[in-house]
Amino acid sequence: MPLESNEVLPDVIQGGMGIAVSTWQLAKEVSKSGGLGVVSATAIDSVIARRLQDGDLTGDIRRAFLNFPNQDIANEILNFYFIDGGREPEKPYLDVPKLSLKQTHLTVNLIAISVFTEVWLAKENNKGVIGVNALEKIQLATPATVFGAMLAGVDYILMGAGIPTQIPEMIRQFSGLQPFKLNIDVANSKSAHFLAFDPKTITPQTIEIKKPNFLAIISSHALAAYLGKDEKTRPDGFIVEGPTAGGHNAPPRSKDAITEDGQSKFSELDEADLVKVAKTGLPFWLAGGYGTPSALKRAKELGAVGIQVGSLFALADESGFTNVIKSELFDLLAEEALNVKTDPYASPTGFPFKVVEIDGTLSEDANFDSRSRNCDLGYLRTPFERPQGGIGYRCPGEPIKTFEFKGGTSEHNSRSKCLCNALMADIGLGQIRADGTTELPLVTFGSDLAGANELSKIYPKGWSANQVLEYLRGN
Ligand SMILES: Cc1cc2nc3c(=O)[nH]c(=O)nc-3n(C[C@H](O)[C@H](O)[C@H](O)COP(=O)(O)O)c2cc1C
Repeated sequence: MPLESNEVLPDVIQGGMGIAVSTWQLAKEVSKSGGLGVVSATAIDSVIARRLQDGDLTGDIRRAFLNFPNQDIANEILNFYFIDGGREPEKPYLDVPKLSLKQTHLTVNLIAISVFTEVWLAKENNKGVIGVNALEKIQLATPATVFGAMLAGVDYILMGAGIPTQIPEMIRQFSGLQPFKLNIDVANSKSAHFLAFDPKTITPQTIEIKKPNFLAIISSHALAAYLGKDEKTRPDGFIVEGPTAGGHNAPPRSKDAITEDGQSKFSELDEADLVKVAKTGLPFWLAGGYGTPSALKRAKELGAVGIQVGSLFALADESGFTNVIKSELFDLLAEEALNVKTDPYASPTGFPFKVVEIDGTLSEDANFDSRSRNCDLGYLRTPFERPQGGIGYRCPGEPIKTFEFKGGTSEHNSRSKCLCNALMADIGLGQIRADGTTELPLVTFGSDLAGANELSKIYPKGWSANQVLEYLRGN
């Protein structure tokens, strides 16, 4: 499905940043200025459920819900989670059902309406283009995510952290309101497993749905060639992301891949050959340390349409990071003390994850060690077949004994952090525990600080999404 030949491609993509760091407010501002604004779909059902429990004080969520094509679903979700005036501040949030191969209607409906809400709000009174970012690894949320976004008229779907071979076909099916069966990876299983999704369970009426463009986020030219060679798997373009990018990184390709201070070690083997990416004939954008005007120019010289930038936008006024986290990051930048480490073990996915060292967060060993491990959100759980039959779910971030009892063998699971709870805390939606404590944040950021350093000299007190775009475009 090639991009329309007359389509104007964005020079700057504001990267999708989960959980809800790339908010609809951020995506909307970027998109109004001609960039591609991207909202994050990761765990967005929990985000919407918690915001409803906090009373949806601005009324934005309920306004979007009124525009959802199935009002029975909108009312069902409001009845479940909305608390007029907000919950008592010391009361824990009611959790959403965990993802599984046998999903209830509530799970599917909540994901679909939550993604719809973020995209709809970003597109409200806005003629620009909006994308949605999802992680291929969270397969069990994918169909409802993609369809919910398409219901809101999303222009681009961007997916990384895995090999998104099934997504182009899923998008084609959903744009004709046809059902789709997603093949799900189940460890230790010899049989095939599927998650079936029928758009008609959400919208029984026939409606027009636009087919969005699909961009695969990749780190190697081999993957670009593999995805590009067959019409069934071919995306509309690529984001080629290097190892300095914030969030998750692709695992290093060299064997001896840990530095002396315990970080993932990248080498030239981890650099994609852009000539080979260009040979696919598909447009591409470069990400990871491309957040400067000179890097945008360089990217274009290398044959890219433009760049995808994350970290600079994560610091923007409109991002979802709490003000406390933003001001901590600005202080560290000013003191030239912003240390970003590539932690090979922090993420339960097994992918390296960029972590900023900040006091009072889970980057401090003492905080990590004193947290009681639990897995109550479970987005990063993966299915496995039990020896006695039946499907179970496990996550290296859960209590060690539970993980091992389920046959989990990750060598490093004792260092795996509960990203789900920590990233919810980054946006001020941390869970409150029985002992009255609140889950601590863990902050991720890119390790190439050139753009952030330069911009913080121009705007020492912080910047808006628009100012980031003006800076990148050299205005
Ligand atoms: C706070 C933060 C969260 C991120 N979360 C995601 C994510 O959920 N999915 C994704 O594909 N990329 C994620 N990224 C990567 C960005 O989308 C982008 O590709 C990357 O930040 C570009 O590199 P830069 O940080 O040097 O600009 C994240 C980056 C940051 C800084």
